[in-house]
Amino acid sequence: MQFLILSDLHGNAEATDAVLRRVRRKRFDAYLVLGDLVGYGAGPNQVVEAVRNLDRPAHLVRGNHDKVVAGIERGENFNHAALAAARWTAEHLRPANLRFVRELPRGPVDLPEGLTICHGSPLDEDQYVFSIFEAWDIFGSYPADVIFFGHTHVPSMFVMRGRETRVALLHGTTGTIRIQPGERYLVNPGSVGQPRDRDPRAAYMTYDSKTRTVRWYRIPYPVERAQQRILKRGLPKVLADRLALGV
Ligand SMILES: [Fe+2]
Repeated sequence: MQFLILSDLHGNAEATDAVLRRVRRKRFDAYLVLGDLVGYGAGPNQVVEAVRNLDRPAHLVRGNHDKVVAGIERGENFNHAALAAARWTAEHLRPANLRFVRELPRGPVDLPEGLTICHGSPLDEDQYVFSIFEAWDIFGSYPADVIFFGHTHVPSMFVMRGRETRVALLHGTTGTIRIQPGERYLVNPGSVGQPRDRDPRAAYMTYDSKTRTVRWYRIPYPVERAQQRILKRGLPKVLADRLALGV
């Protein structure tokens, strides 16, 4: 099976559109969507509708922003800008889109072929996995061989071989890594809609379970248009500024 993996789209209609246009004619069987469809960006209806209408089967999990927008959580740990955007999004999502966000499955979701998808981590959907310390815990407590996660907005990969955990990729690189037998993996595609590795381009990833190959991609999209949309809707300016910086 070949998978197209998207995470943290964050209501960025322009970035989502650019990625989906780019992959439309590529050969793959299913999408994996790792949560945070909405929040931060000013195109939540466009993004949710794009995900609802994906042209191939999709496995999805919800993200922390999806939960707050859907009213499942209150967002007490959100900063001012994130909370303002979540409230705006909840008010502006069309009812069917809000329902779709509310009904996104809670991760982790186990898939065939030893794959698991989650938002933060399979232990806690809100956990940030930035280092081998968190990775070590997860490998020790969750049995899947290949775990795809999002939430940090940083393309990254942690590997466990035997009892040793190491970093295979961290912070904003494109490239290809082949998964080795006997190793276990935690893999993050980076963020479509709000990259935080100082590269403003939209990030996504593919995984071929037959060749066991993971590949990270970056593509440019009209950042200024996404910024203008945020400013026009009266969302905090910092949410527009950070898109150009990739932070
Ligand atoms: Fe996110």
